[in-house]
Amino acid sequence: MSRVMVLAAGLWMGWSVVAFADDEDMIAQGKALVEEKCARCHAIGLEDKSPHEKAPPFRDVVEIYPSENLAEALAEGIVSGHPDMPVFKFDPPQIEAFLGYLNSLSEKP
Ligand code: HEC
Repeated sequence: MSRVMVLAAGLWMGWSVVAFADDEDMIAQGKALVEEKCARCHAIGLEDKSPHEKAPPFRDVVEIYPSENLAEALAEGIVSGHPDMPVFKFDPPQIEAFLGYLNSLSEKP
């Protein structure tokens, strides 16, 4: 009996470690994505300044727009009023990665 319990506990812990690793992966992917596509205009970190003076830093974007709204906007292709910003269309996995990264910005103090 106790061996079964230990096994179950081991499994459970194994799962949460896996879930955690996935999360980190997702954030890393999101970061790579914004580094490639957005960083030339937007500040993507916690303290950097946007290279494009009118582009809001992502740490502000995440406060102005709730993630659900952003997810929708990304799926449909972000169309900003600003001519400097190209239109992007994201795949669902990219959106998830992107939002994971954004949320990681707002979680830090
Ligand atoms: C060529 C420069 C440029 C690139 C590249 C760029 N942006 Fe922007 N983005 C802007 C500018 C400039 C604004 C401000 C628009 C305005 O004030 O009308 C903006 C605004 C935004 C906003 C706020 C939209 C709003 O309606 O207020 C979001 C969200 C956004 N960008 C997301 C992204 C994402 C995600 C990427 C990468 C996939 C990206 N941007 C890449 C220039 C850029």
